[in-house]
Amino acid sequence: MALYTGKSIVVTGASSGIGKALCLALAPQRPRLGLAARDTARLEEVAAQCRAAGAETRVVPTDVTSIDQCRRLVDRTVEAFGCLDVLVNNAGVGMLARFDETEDLSVYERLMKVNYLGCVYPTYYALPHLKKSRGQIVVMASLAGLTGVPTRSGYAATKHAVFGFFDSLRIELDGTGVSVTMVAPYFVRSEIHRRAAGPDGQPLGASPMQEDRIMTAEECAALTVAGMERRQRLVITNWRGGRLSRLLRIFAPGVVDGLARKAVREGK
Ligand SMILES: NC(=O)c1ccc[n+]([C@@H]2O[C@H](COP(=O)([O-])OP(=O)(O)OC[C@H]3O[C@@H](n4cnc5c(N)ncnc54)[C@H](OP(=O)(O)O)[C@@H]3O)[C@@H](O)[C@H]2O)c1
Repeated sequence: MALYTGKSIVVTGASSGIGKALCLALAPQRPRLGLAARDTARLEEVAAQCRAAGAETRVVPTDVTSIDQCRRLVDRTVEAFGCLDVLVNNAGVGMLARFDETEDLSVYERLMKVNYLGCVYPTYYALPHLKKSRGQIVVMASLAGLTGVPTRSGYAATKHAVFGFFDSLRIELDGTGVSVTMVAPYFVRSEIHRRAAGPDGQPLGASPMQEDRIMTAEECAALTVAGMERRQRLVITNWRGGRLSRLLRIFAPGVVDGLARKAVREGK
């Protein structure tokens, strides 16, 4: 029997990109998946694919910026499956604008609500159930939570907040059996870049990335599942942009600034 067979798992942001790929990567283990995002039709499509691959599913349309909807997400999942073993906080949105060229400052608030509070709220309601199951919290953070990224200042701030919150929570949870796994992907092929807010706060509409030169959502999902299965503390998906940068940051922080500048300029 696989590790997640019969386990009750909530994934936010399951309607596209990494969240969808993660549900599909887990499905062959026959878990019970609670799929959350705002777009119900897309969630239903993902759910059907997961069922075809072996999972039981429950779609719970959720806006993670709403406290009430996050409570409902956890309640509905526990009602359906009887327990909660894993919460994956994955929902997120992006931005792409230099700070001094930003025309719509509300983007900074919107990103904080989705990327940061949208992790805090589901975690709050999931925690009593996760303590009972000695379960796990998985957070789709970003390398931008570990270093600065030009044109992504608001996004990087949300991901730094996420690291600060969950690194603190991990210590509070010591002895409860609940683990926290932070995932820090480098660039991944998904919808986030074309949906990212530009300087005027509107979606860019087209990705500025070299999408065929970056990791696929399926590759990122496979690395995430492997890290989840080991209850790894931190999953860094990329050698150059990730693990090497962490070392360099201590000894040569200016080099890391240059790497971040180059990555954004080249879009890969
Ligand atoms: N792609 C990358 O390069 C990359 C790199 C590092 C980290 N990440 C992180 O990976 C996570 C997934 O992003 P992705 O790349 O897969 O992007 P994506 O394809 O745009 O997927 C984002 C998901 O979040 C959901 N979402 C957005 N706002 C929401 C809200 N208010 N309430 C509920 N769900 C919401 C979207 O669904 P609805 O629109 O249906 O609500 C969608 O399912 C994010 O946290 C992102 O920051 C991505």
